[in-house]
Amino acid sequence: MTSRPAASDSRILILDFGAQYSQLIARRVREGQVYCELHPGDMPLTEIEAFAPSGIILSGGPSSVLDHDAPDVDEGVLGLGVPILGICYGLQLLVLRLGGRIESADDREYGRATLKIERDDPLFAGFAGDSEQVVWMSHGDRVLALPEGMSVIASSGGSPFAAVRSDRAPIWGVQFHPEVVHTESGTQMLENFVHSICGCPREWTMASFADDAIATIKNQVGEGRAVCGLSGGVDSSVAATLVHRAIGDQLTCIFVDHGMMRKNERHEVEALFREALGVQLISIDASDRFLNALDGVSEPEKKRKVIGNLFIEVFEEEAAKIGDVDFLVQGTLYPDVIESVSVKGKSVTIKTHHNVGGLPEDMRLALVEPLRELFKDEVRAVGRELGLPAHVLGRHPFPGPGLGIRILGEVTRDRLGPLREADAIMIEEIRAAGLYDEIWQALTVFLPVESVGVMGDERTYENVVALRCVTSTDAMTADFARVPYDVLARISNRIINEVAGINRVVYDISSKPPATIEWE
Ligand code: XMP
Repeated sequence: MTSRPAASDSRILILDFGAQYSQLIARRVREGQVYCELHPGDMPLTEIEAFAPSGIILSGGPSSVLDHDAPDVDEGVLGLGVPILGICYGLQLLVLRLGGRIESADDREYGRATLKIERDDPLFAGFAGDSEQVVWMSHGDRVLALPEGMSVIASSGGSPFAAVRSDRAPIWGVQFHPEVVHTESGTQMLENFVHSICGCPREWTMASFADDAIATIKNQVGEGRAVCGLSGGVDSSVAATLVHRAIGDQLTCIFVDHGMMRKNERHEVEALFREALGVQLISIDASDRFLNALDGVSEPEKKRKVIGNLFIEVFEEEAAKIGDVDFLVQGTLYPDVIESVSVKGKSVTIKTHHNVGGLPEDMRLALVEPLRELFKDEVRAVGRELGLPAHVLGRHPFPGPGLGIRILGEVTRDRLGPLREADAIMIEEIRAAGLYDEIWQALTVFLPVESVGVMGDERTYENVVALRCVTSTDAMTADFARVPYDVLARISNRIINEVAGINRVVYDISSKPPATIEWE
């Protein structure tokens, strides 16, 4: 399914050679309001032609173009006549393909460099007057000699061929990374390429996306019936709302309360979807089943498995009650799509994520994935277009197994109750302090240890909760949030006074790595 703007055929193709920053290139192009897709570097020419790009960007990559098995681009790409911009590895590939020479340098050029603009060029429009620019380099190989018909448009101390262009074809190459924020005018360079050189207007907006997506969903589903699992999170909420706009009551949403949700979560989902949006919603309290199944289970991965499998079972049972269903709506996002086609190898499993709310594989339903072309912030923007409330769109990520992996060891009602109360107090105070949006995730962990305390004249022997607030941009790395002491003090006082069974609160000051965000 594609929902690129109908009014125009503008689109940029990014061929990925495995760079850490490939997704960032796509982000920047989208920020310039131009539709783009990221595909593996060896995408066959026929598919490239079918995509009909207005311009092509070749990404960087960890390999050396001098290796015999180096990832390559279909040679026909160079003859398409569409503008091409090679970045780092992409530049080296272009130079090699066009007959130039690349050498493997003894030392890597890494970090800040000063770019000296040698010649006016459309790529530098808007800042060519500032003949020096800070750029960010990260490469081992470098250009030794340019092919005939190519010339230098900018240089740096370590790279005499820092930016080059062909005099014969619309081909540009840069050794540095314009997509990273450390490259001063990087965004402007990419926008120059996309808007001026490739001629793509700014028309990829979330309003146009929503209209197109609604039309596409109508077309796909026809008279069929669809189900959508709601989790309370941003992605499933936006996906469900979009599909509901398209097909109304042909959609039924299912919310499975596994008993490890946050305080009031089920009621909030019911109030929004059933009452405010008028979506057909099956909301099921399956807490007893989940908690029974978790009886005696304390190992984190085992918990995830039990919760994940039972979730699918309950979901399928509820879906079966609807009768004939043809489609399953999923809130898959573009980073998940890129991850599954990427040239990069999969990393080792630290925790099995996304196992709750996962696709019931044997349901044999066709998928409706209206968000599969979007990045997270674009999903939020679509949600705003659709009128979803800000607190739903700005919600912190919440893991599928919920509070189940925030109780160390066995999950019991006796532990869930106090944890849920403590968590609600923490979130309330973080919001009241105006910190919620600065924090990536704020969570409370129940520690099944007892410590001594004193309340009134009584000696207490009760449990501990840990507060964890982290800042992050993608959950891959994180640091503990510097929450002011007075806010921590308020949270701690309230939890100890208001939550029976908790007499001690600690704040987690670990970063990720080496710690993870969740404790299990
Ligand atoms: P960690 O703890 O690995 O978490 O640093 C990174 C991000 O993933 C979330 N997370 C999960 N999400 N199912 C999920 O859907 C899970 O089992 C799970 N475990 C961790 C975590 O909340 C954080 O946002």
